[in-house]
Amino acid sequence: MKIQRFSKIGFIMAAAGSAVGLGNIWKFPYMTGEYGGGAFVLVYLITIAFIGFSVMVAEMLIGALGRADTVTSFERLAPPGKKWWKYAGFMGFNGVIIMTFYSVVIGWILYYLFTIVTSGLPETTEEAKRAFNTLVGDQIAAQIFFHTVSVIIVGYIVYRGIKAGIERINLILMPALMVILFGLLLYAMTLDGFREALAFMFEPKWEKLNSEALIRAVGHSFFTLSLGMGAILTYAASLPKDASITQTAFIVTFMDTLIALVAGLVIFSFLFQFGAEPGQGPGLVFISLPTILHNFGTLGVIFALLFFLALAFAGVTSAISLVEPVVQYLIDRFHFTRGKAVLLISFIYWLVGIGALLSYTNSWGKVMSVGGKPLFDILEYTTDSILLPLGGFLISVFVGYLLPKSQLFAQIGREMGERAYRVWYFSVRYIAPLALLFMMLNLMGVIEL
Ligand code: PHE
Repeated sequence: MKIQRFSKIGFIMAAAGSAVGLGNIWKFPYMTGEYGGGAFVLVYLITIAFIGFSVMVAEMLIGALGRADTVTSFERLAPPGKKWWKYAGFMGFNGVIIMTFYSVVIGWILYYLFTIVTSGLPETTEEAKRAFNTLVGDQIAAQIFFHTVSVIIVGYIVYRGIKAGIERINLILMPALMVILFGLLLYAMTLDGFREALAFMFEPKWEKLNSEALIRAVGHSFFTLSLGMGAILTYAASLPKDASITQTAFIVTFMDTLIALVAGLVIFSFLFQFGAEPGQGPGLVFISLPTILHNFGTLGVIFALLFFLALAFAGVTSAISLVEPVVQYLIDRFHFTRGKAVLLISFIYWLVGIGALLSYTNSWGKVMSVGGKPLFDILEYTTDSILLPLGGFLISVFVGYLLPKSQLFAQIGREMGERAYRVWYFSVRYIAPLALLFMMLNLMGVIEL
């Protein structure tokens, strides 16, 4: 089986496309809003710098050395007698679980694009709230329709493969997304709300930082960098031969962080300009933002369209990286054709995704909940807070303790230079696994922060 290789820029854009997603533009701003701004942002930045970046280098390294799907890569690289490490490769399946709800949210975004074109923006907050709540609570057919459209778009790109599908779409959508977001930022900078947004995001209010905020910041830094489920690993299996892992990981981490901060600044500038509250939860970009943009007249409609378009681009480029690992696994290990693998995986998450969206509806909510928790939330919580940190833990233990030191130094040491390499090695061996272990134990209620 031959694995296709990305071009250098293609790999950077694909990995950045995976990292920059709904996590940056939808989740990061509303979490920042909910957890009080500056202090949360600071913890998030520190985690990215000290844990996220190191684990990204480690995950890329496994892919670049293994040159195969997640399971085969772990199996090839595990020392003799420890081949059971291949089971760590099943982290690729996290992507399918994430896709169940991720695709539903992409569906909402497509629906918003459609309604903004056909009927403009809501005039009042009540109207915006009603629109969002009706969509999520009652409009089953519309949600299934747009979720299905999202499944088809994503499936088609993955079906086209690494070069003709994934690389090509990322080379188009990522620059487009950046142009839109930076354009919106330039406009936001002219608003009075911009200063307030800066203060809100960068002046830490420590009293707001409770243990929950801390844990969510750590968990989110994994989610936003696409770590711990084999997306970065699978892409790195197609790493061009002479590419530097360190350099690419750095660029990807930097871009991901920058775009989250820009998205936050844009959204909060608009919100503060009209005195809206930042702590709105997941409805922030679906309820508050459209209402606020209505105040800008026609310009607002254009802004809204551009914003949701950027959101859709970000979502789709991440979604393909959630599906690709398992598709690659089925091709490598079970000799599936790409088309069959895509069909099977798409069907599974399409079906479970319908369960997830039903769990928010008024009519089916009860049936689709377990212990009072909607299926949607269960899927999100399990992946975001448990499975991704677990995957990150396995990756850092594998690279820090099982791969031969000489092999690590040969690649990463050569790229980083000895000093930085030592810091990275320390992080992968001690800081990352301990922090992640601590976090998982805390979530499972074994220890109390
Ligand atoms: N990083 C993506 C985001 O921020 C989500 C994602 C997680 C994608 C894990 C791939 C793997 O939305």
